[in-house]
Amino acid sequence: MDSAHAFPRNAWYMAAWGNEVGETLLRRRLLGEPMLLFRKEDGSIAAMIDRCPHRFAPLSLGTRSGDTVTCPYHGLTFDAAGTCIRNPFSETIPKGTQVATFPAIERDGIVWFWPGDAEAADPSRIPDFSMLFVEGHGAPISGLMPMNANFQYGTDNLLDLSHIEFVHKGSFAGRGVIFAGEHSVREDGDTIHSDWWMPDIAAPSHTLGIYDPQMRCDHWLDMRWNAPASMCLEIGGCPHGAERKSGVIVHQAHILTPETVDATHYFWATTRTMPPSEQGDAMLFDLMSQAFSEEDKPIIEATYANMDGADFWDRKPAFLGIDAGGTRARRFLQKLIQKENVNP
Ligand code: FES
Ligand SMILES: [Fe+2]
Repeated sequence: MDSAHAFPRNAWYMAAWGNEVGETLLRRRLLGEPMLLFRKEDGSIAAMIDRCPHRFAPLSLGTRSGDTVTCPYHGLTFDAAGTCIRNPFSETIPKGTQVATFPAIERDGIVWFWPGDAEAADPSRIPDFSMLFVEGHGAPISGLMPMNANFQYGTDNLLDLSHIEFVHKGSFAGRGVIFAGEHSVREDGDTIHSDWWMPDIAAPSHTLGIYDPQMRCDHWLDMRWNAPASMCLEIGGCPHGAERKSGVIVHQAHILTPETVDATHYFWATTRTMPPSEQGDAMLFDLMSQAFSEEDKPIIEATYANMDGADFWDRKPAFLGIDAGGTRARRFLQKLIQKENVNP
């Protein structure tokens, strides 16, 4: 798949966690391009191509002074808008020295960037992840996992949580509850919801230490998807028949950004059921890391490798119903990409 057909460009993509971007120059490959990210003196984020227009050295290896970056190779200096403002060899700034920059916004601890038409970058289209910040708990526990697979294979995995019963035996283990659950997929404007509802079961594992394990509970796993691959999972449990909002609720972010067509940055975050503590946070971090690195990642990577480069639809995937969310997300993206290729 060539990159023109691999991802929509007019969309907000996650570039980094806010706490990854500081004064130092951060290089990260995003949508196949090397990107330079840094935090400007006013706290906002600069995002530009990490390639000097002279002999193409990575600007991230250069030096920063105020909001300017000097190339490590022959010393051209650029401002945060990508404009060359100093040429050490002449008073004149040569032609062809503009570095491409991208709209970038930090919200809910997430740095978003817009690789498409800058005029169309509407911040109101950034999906809401404010639920990651819980009063009294502060910021969520977060991580970034590299994955050698196309990002849409990660979306398939997340919009079809039936895999919990098979893939997550060592961590979240559903103990058969998924089989007893009801699954529904619905679209609400540009948002896709893929939800599981599991009433009258033993207390789900995220309520450990809060509910008696024998207590009858209603349990839900509600996944919200926005293009290109920004997902928010609500994991809930409440006493059977009680109001949902009275229950134990955790929110997770699962946000996938293509590193290239064949590799993905998997950004994840989770809230806690109890106030932060060093030991509790470390345990939760380990559980999440294990589940993603040792359970999801190997099956997603093996699946993608097993495509042998073929297009997903050309392989004529069988349809089980539980996979409807992933199918709709794929169709949605396909339409966005087609639209952009018709009106580039
Ligand atoms: S490569 Fe940057 S100034 Fe020459
Ligand atoms: Fe998983």
